[in-house]
Amino acid sequence: VTTVLTAEGPNAEQIRYWNEAAGPRWVANQEVLDRQIAPLGLAAMDRAAIRPGEHVLDVGCGCGATTIELARRVAPGGSVLGLDLSRVMLEAAREAAEGAGVAGVRFENADAQTYAPESGGLDLVFSRFGVMFFAEPEAAFANLARALRSGGRLAFVCWQALPLNPWMAVPVMAAMQHVQLPPPPAPGAPGPFSFADEGRVREILAAAGFADIALAPHHAKLAVGGGRNLDATVEIMLQLGPAAAALRDASEEVRGRVRPAVREALAPYWTESGVSMDSACWLVTARRP
Ligand SMILES: C[S@@+](CC[C@H](N)C(=O)[O-])C[C@H]1O[C@@H](n2cnc3c(N)ncnc32)[C@H](O)[C@@H]1O
Repeated sequence: VTTVLTAEGPNAEQIRYWNEAAGPRWVANQEVLDRQIAPLGLAAMDRAAIRPGEHVLDVGCGCGATTIELARRVAPGGSVLGLDLSRVMLEAAREAAEGAGVAGVRFENADAQTYAPESGGLDLVFSRFGVMFFAEPEAAFANLARALRSGGRLAFVCWQALPLNPWMAVPVMAAMQHVQLPPPPAPGAPGPFSFADEGRVREILAAAGFADIALAPHHAKLAVGGGRNLDATVEIMLQLGPAAAALRDASEEVRGRVRPAVREALAPYWTESGVSMDSACWLVTARRP
């Protein structure tokens, strides 16, 4: 990772968040998180119809699982640039890419809202849950459109609304019995659900200059906790996601009460292969004219 991003500019708060708060937790739980959301990233890639030789930007690539899979799909002759605000997550990504032995992969610690890839003329801008955190989404997507060649594609996956994602809503509701939730973010404020509204996504992408905008609803059972046991899954829910956010300032005593409540709420979803719950996301595609 050659560059070092300082917490400045429009996304300074997110740079801090993904380096100090969320990044180390994502790195620590990387395997589980990857197993949990891998099928959703693959579904977005399938819709992107990636071909060997293509040049791809992976926005908010995190710990690099999608960057590696994209590199496999563009081989031989293609390339993938993984961009992320989080240096800690990129370190994990670099290590994983080296371990996977894929060619044509590069990572940059940069803000996708402002970063201009040297090459430009890319074939595809891809993201698995990495485009919902921009302070100025129209500016960010206009910037991403400029990185594409004419006819280049955009393909990403983002969450639909929280109530349609019981795997996140159920733990939050359990936590709510013991801790006051922070006020809900303003509609469209950066966060996991900022792209939940189809009309808003269409407006942002159209304003950024994209054409052929399509949102396909994607409903899937998720292996919550990556197929691990119930207690391990509860711990992950308390560390990452909306329930964890609600517990950010909670005392050990409160956490001690929330833990069994979340366990009880998740128990009905236990199956032979782990906790299995419904999820809903959008598979979004568009094209630079
Ligand atoms: C929910 S995580 C998803 C990580 C990864 N794509 C995955 O699926 O495992 C969101 C990622 O987007 C990154 N991110 C958020 N805003 C960004 C921005 N403006 N530029 C680059 N990366 C960003 C975060 O640092 C984080 O790694």
